[in-house]
Amino acid sequence: MDIEIKDLHVNIEEKEIVKGVSLKVGKGEFHVIMGPNGSGKSTLAKAIMGHPKLKVTGGEILADGTDISEMPANERARMGIFLQFQNPIEIEGVGFVNFLHTAKRSIAQSDVDVNQFMGDVDSWTKKLKITNGIVGRSLNQGFSGGEKKKAEVLQLAVLKPKLAILDEPDSGLDIDAIKIVAENVNELAQKHEMGLIVITHYSRILSYMKPQFVHVMVDGKIVAEGREEMIAKLEKEGYEQFVKK
Ligand SMILES: Nc1ncnc2c1ncn2[C@@H]1O[C@H](COP(=O)(O)OP(=O)(O)O)[C@@H](O)[C@H]1O
Ligand SMILES: [Mg+2]
Repeated sequence: MDIEIKDLHVNIEEKEIVKGVSLKVGKGEFHVIMGPNGSGKSTLAKAIMGHPKLKVTGGEILADGTDISEMPANERARMGIFLQFQNPIEIEGVGFVNFLHTAKRSIAQSDVDVNQFMGDVDSWTKKLKITNGIVGRSLNQGFSGGEKKKAEVLQLAVLKPKLAILDEPDSGLDIDAIKIVAENVNELAQKHEMGLIVITHYSRILSYMKPQFVHVMVDGKIVAEGREEMIAKLEKEGYEQFVKK
């Protein structure tokens, strides 16, 4: 899938948060969006996914050339867009495995072989070193920060979206877990030609991932773009240089 965002403006209530962002993510490309807290990164991610609380007030989101900016989130998911939330919500009474199976069926628009599905869940649980039986619990209920992030990589592995947006996949993870998450996301993206947008404000996870394009977002706008060398530059100089005083 090819995503092209053109001069996107997004409001939360009456306030403009995303102020004219253009971004093109080709099939299988790996992009990173970095920027300080509050710059609108999560809002941009939610707008691509179609979060109902947001209002797109201008611009377009094209998926393979079709404007999806008015399309409901579940239809975008069915098209193959996946968003890993920065703060995944806990849903009592919805079993994690049930949830995942329903999502898989909805995206496949057909029945999903239960044995194969459970086998997939099982092998990825081991691969991601997910312990503490979280797979048997309600969605995100009592999951630690790190477990939520791993559980979302498990979703990614089973759902195999065409475009995955990961919002701070490193938050709440210890160093070993960051490595596991990064390596598995890399492997999945390469194997399935998944487009990838990783949002982060720290560069640590990027020592295990090799993005092709880096975008810096400050105050609702992309203020700088570059290749991998941009990460080292940001690490050295910070975001300060982009912030208007
Ligand atoms: N639900 C909300 N209601 C009001 N303001 C919000 C809401 N969510 C985010 N904002 C505001 O939007 C701005 C951008 O937030 P966000 O997209 O989360 O930034 P980032 O992910 O870059 O840290 C912030 O100023 C934040 O306070
Ligand atoms: Mg955020």
